[in-house]
Amino acid sequence: MTDVLQGTATCTAPAAWPQRPAGLCYGGDYNPEQWPRGEWAEDIALMKAAGINLVSIGIFSWVLLEPREGEYDFEWLDHLFDLLVEAGISVDLGTPTAAPPAWFWKKYPQALPVTREGVRLGFGSRGMASPSSPEYLRAATAITGQLARRYGSHPALVLWHVHNEYGAPVSESYDENSVLAFREWLQARYVTLEALNDAWGTLFWGQKYGEWDEIDAPRATASVGNQSQALDFRRFTSDAMLRCFKAERDVIHQYSPGVPVTTNFMATNCLSPDYWAWSREVDVVSNDHYLVAQRNDNHILLSMDADLTRSLARNKPWMLMEHSTGAVNWQGRNIAKRPGELARNSLAHVARGADAVLFFQFRASRYGAEKFHSAMLPHAGTGTRIWREVLELGAGLERLAPVKGSTVHSRVAILWDVESFWAQDLEWRPSSDLDHRERIEAFYSALWNQQVAVDFAHPGDDLSGYSLVLAPALYLVGDEAAASLRDYVSGGGHLVVSYFSGIVNAHDTVAKGASPGGLREVLGLEIHEFLPLRAGEAVQLSAGGTGTVWSEEIHPGSAVVVSRYVGGPAAGGPAITRNAFGEGVAWYVSTKLDGGDLAALLLEVIRGAGLATPSSPHEGLEVSIRSTATEQFTFLINHSGRAVHHEAEGFELMTGETVTGQLQVPAGAVRVIQSR
Ligand code: GAL
Repeated sequence: MTDVLQGTATCTAPAAWPQRPAGLCYGGDYNPEQWPRGEWAEDIALMKAAGINLVSIGIFSWVLLEPREGEYDFEWLDHLFDLLVEAGISVDLGTPTAAPPAWFWKKYPQALPVTREGVRLGFGSRGMASPSSPEYLRAATAITGQLARRYGSHPALVLWHVHNEYGAPVSESYDENSVLAFREWLQARYVTLEALNDAWGTLFWGQKYGEWDEIDAPRATASVGNQSQALDFRRFTSDAMLRCFKAERDVIHQYSPGVPVTTNFMATNCLSPDYWAWSREVDVVSNDHYLVAQRNDNHILLSMDADLTRSLARNKPWMLMEHSTGAVNWQGRNIAKRPGELARNSLAHVARGADAVLFFQFRASRYGAEKFHSAMLPHAGTGTRIWREVLELGAGLERLAPVKGSTVHSRVAILWDVESFWAQDLEWRPSSDLDHRERIEAFYSALWNQQVAVDFAHPGDDLSGYSLVLAPALYLVGDEAAASLRDYVSGGGHLVVSYFSGIVNAHDTVAKGASPGGLREVLGLEIHEFLPLRAGEAVQLSAGGTGTVWSEEIHPGSAVVVSRYVGGPAAGGPAITRNAFGEGVAWYVSTKLDGGDLAALLLEVIRGAGLATPSSPHEGLEVSIRSTATEQFTFLINHSGRAVHHEAEGFELMTGETVTGQLQVPAGAVRVIQSR
C-alpha cells in the first residue's frame, strides 16, 4: 500500500458538504449486518417513513469486508448500497478501522495498545490499535483503499466517515512502536537533546538524558513523573492519531474525488485529541454528543458542546453525527429522555449551526455491549413513543430546510485550549479543587442563562472580532497566546481571566517571575502566593458575594481593585481587579464565584464591553439565532414546564403560522421564526 500512502492527491477538491440531501441531513448509524438480510427492506421502508435521508454504514464491519488478510467480500455491502440507492437514501460510508478483526490481532499482537501501567489490552471490544503500529497503518489504509476504489463514485455515496471517535476509549499507547515514534517526534520538535533536556527541566530529580534512546514513554513511575514529558506524550499521541486519519483520508481523496471526508469528534471531551489541529484536516466537521443524563443542566452542556463544535468548524455548517433518542448504556445511571426532549436536544444543535441530525443508531442491537442503548427504532418497535418522536422530528427537520447554510454570529468568545487542560490535569497541582472544566461550564452557563451567543476560540487566534473574551481556565499560556491576548486587549478588547491562568509556559514550566507569567502585564498585577481554601470554606468579598476553592496574595500594579477579600487567608487583599490596557480592559477574578455572584460580575463586564443583553430572559427559554445575508432564523427552545411568550414577527417554521407580535412557545416545545 505504500504507493497509495504516497500517491499524489487528486486535483478535484473535496466538497465541504455532502452533495445530497438537499435539505438538512437526518438519520443515524445503521448496522444491519447484525440481523438477517430479510429484515433490511423493512428497515429501509421505516427510514423512508421517518424522512431519513442519510445513514452511516460499515463502521465496525472490517471482519465481514476482509474475513482473511487480503481477501475481500463486498457482496453484502453491495446489496445494502443497492437497497439504499433504490430508496433514495444517501450513504455516509464508514471505514471500519476502529475494529480490526481477530485475524489481525492474532498475526500482529504487537499492535495492541499498552496502558501506562504496562498492561497490553486484549481483543474483544473495539477502539484504537496503537496509533504508531506500522502493521495497523498498513492494514487500515489497505481496507480503506479497497472501499474507496469500490464505492468511491457510487451514486449513493455522499460522505466518508473515517474510523470512529479517535482517542476513545484508549488514546495513549505505551507499546514499543509508540516509544520509537515518540522519540522521532521529539527529535523533530527539539532537534537537540540539549533543547529537550532544557524544555523538560530534566535537571530536576536527575532525569537528564544523554542519548535519544534513553527516552521512554511517561510510564507509571514510583512518584510523580516528568510533567513536561507527559504533556508532550499527549501532543505526540494526538499527532500520531491524526497521521492515521490523514493516511486514510488521502487514500479516499485519491479514489473518491469530490466526496468529503469526516471523522466524528467528541468536542468537549478533554481526553480527545487537539481538535483545533484536526479540524483543519477534515473536509467537514462532525461531532458526537451524549448528555450527562443525570445532570439537570444537561441541556446547557449540550449547547456548550454545539457551540464548541461550530467554532471548530470555523462557523461553517457542521454535522451532529451521533446523539441518542433516549438513554445511553454506559453511564452510571442511564436516565431516559422524557417526551419532547429528543426534539429539543436535536434542534438545539441545529440552532447552533448543525445542518445534520444523526443518531446512534437507527435500530437497537439485540446483543453485544450496547443492547441497552436507545435507538431511533427501539426493541419494542414502531408502537413506541420514541418512534413517534422520531417521525415528528423527521417532519420538523423537513420544515426547517430553509435554515441550511445559515450561520451563528457571536461577539463573545470563551478560550478553549485542550493542551492547557491536559497540562492542568497532570499530578501535584496546588489544590485538587482546581477544575478547568467546572470553570468553563460555570462561565458558559452564566452566559447561557442570559442567552448571550458564545463562540469558543483558541488563545492564539485573531480575537479582534470579539468584543469580549473570557479565559475561565487557561493554566498554560505559551508565548504566542500571551502575545495574542496582549494584542487583543491593547486593540480595544475586553478580557476576563479567572484564577490559575497564565501559570506555566508550553512546557509546563512556571513562567519566570511572579504569576501570572505572560498575563502579568495585561492584567496589571503580580501574584505572590497561592492561598487555596479548605474544603467547604467560603470567603466574603467586599463588593458582595463569596468566593470558594481559591484565593491568592495579589499585588496590583496598574490594575484597580474592584473587590477585596473580607476574610480568609487573603483578608484585606484584592480579589477582583480591572486593568485598563491600551484601548481595552482586562479583568482578573482570583476566586471561584458561583451562581448569582458570577452572573452579576459577567453582566457588568458584558455591559462594559458595550454588548446588549436581553432585559429579562425567560428562565429555561433557549434563544439562538442563525442568519444569512437576507434572513434570520430565531430558535426558541422551551426547556421549562410552562408556556412562555416571546416578542416575534415572521413566519414560524414548525407550525407554519405567521406571527405578529407575541408568539406562545408551549412548555417543552420548539419554535423557529423565519424573518427578514
Ligand atoms: C459513541 C460511539 C458509538 C456508540 C455510542 C453509544 O461514542 O461512537 O459507536 O458506541 O457511543 O452511546
